[in-house]
Amino acid sequence: MTASTDQASQNSRFAPRIFSGIQPSGGLTLGNYLGALKRFVEKQDEGIETVYCMVDMHAITVWQDPARLRQQTREVAAGFIAAGIDPERSILFNQSQVTAHAELAWIFNCVARMGWMNRMTQFKDKAGKDKEAASLGLYAYPALMAADILAYHATHVPVGEDQRQHLELTRDIAIKFNHDYDVDFFPVTEPLIEGAATRVMSLRDGTKKMSKSDPSDMSRINLTDDADAIAQKFRKARTDPDPLPEGPDALEGRAEARNLVNIYAALAGVEVAQVLAEYAGQGFGAFKPRLADLAVSVLSPISARMGELMQDTGEIDRILGRGAERADAIARPIMEQCYDIVGMVRSRG
Ligand code: AMP
Ligand code: TRP
Repeated sequence: MTASTDQASQNSRFAPRIFSGIQPSGGLTLGNYLGALKRFVEKQDEGIETVYCMVDMHAITVWQDPARLRQQTREVAAGFIAAGIDPERSILFNQSQVTAHAELAWIFNCVARMGWMNRMTQFKDKAGKDKEAASLGLYAYPALMAADILAYHATHVPVGEDQRQHLELTRDIAIKFNHDYDVDFFPVTEPLIEGAATRVMSLRDGTKKMSKSDPSDMSRINLTDDADAIAQKFRKARTDPDPLPEGPDALEGRAEARNLVNIYAALAGVEVAQVLAEYAGQGFGAFKPRLADLAVSVLSPISARMGELMQDTGEIDRILGRGAERADAIARPIMEQCYDIVGMVRSRG
């Protein structure tokens, strides 16, 4: 049997279910929107069961001011809803309200091997030079992420390119758990990394991803930026002096140019080749204002709706509370079966 048919048969007993998460460690960026949120909405609208989570426990793997964390959790939730997530059709909640995440993460800490964790590039990037000073949580982060996904028996996970390695680890954990306990209990989850914008780059440096935690605000478009800020950031975005080429291949080696074209394609919902067919031969002086207009037309309704939703944080909290109850209803029985498989005595109630 090939690996893929093996895996398909392994997953066939699991109903399709999508899970994904975003850290409330800062405001949402255009990278989050194109790489994640926009695709979360598409999956919801395809009618698949969708579970979306503000991963507040992941956020605290690096220091978060408590008042800001609370505010950002609500703001990210508002961003989900403003982008088109319907909290009735999707399950929308914050991670810490469903205890299965932490419980399963512990079991996975005992399944994952030190050697696997040592290979995680995000830890190396985030911990920087002084690894001794990084939190233990930052090191164990990928095991918690696997728990997020597998506590729901999720079969598919839409994410940006930067999460590929974590999803491979999630698969390894599921396979090792199933093997060690001789069960077919966890699905081997498929990553969904699709579209023109799986890796939106910084506007200041085409080799770094656009990130909510970059110290330079000019490096990113925030979902809450107004039209002037968006126009200014694209105007100042780094590019090269050459005009836009005829075809996608000629963007090779032009990281900044390629990034802006990818962003345009993803915002317009067209192929990169189509964008180039329209703009080939034109310079960035002409292209950037058109890109800014397009971004404003897509983002301003979202940011306006976010602003309205943030007027009533009580309602956001109620939505997250209801979402957590629905999430718990799925995760709790899976968690109990998992404890049973592992050999924990469960005798209450
Ligand atoms: P984070 O903000 O790191 O919690 O990321 C949440 C989701 O957004 C993940 O699926 C990421 O892969 C995705 N994402 C974050 N930044 C980018 C980016 N610059 N380009 C594409 N996707 C991104
Ligand atoms: N690690 C992801 C990020 O930084 C966030 C995340 C946590 C996640 N748990 C998840 C994404 C589960 C997908 C599925 O982007």
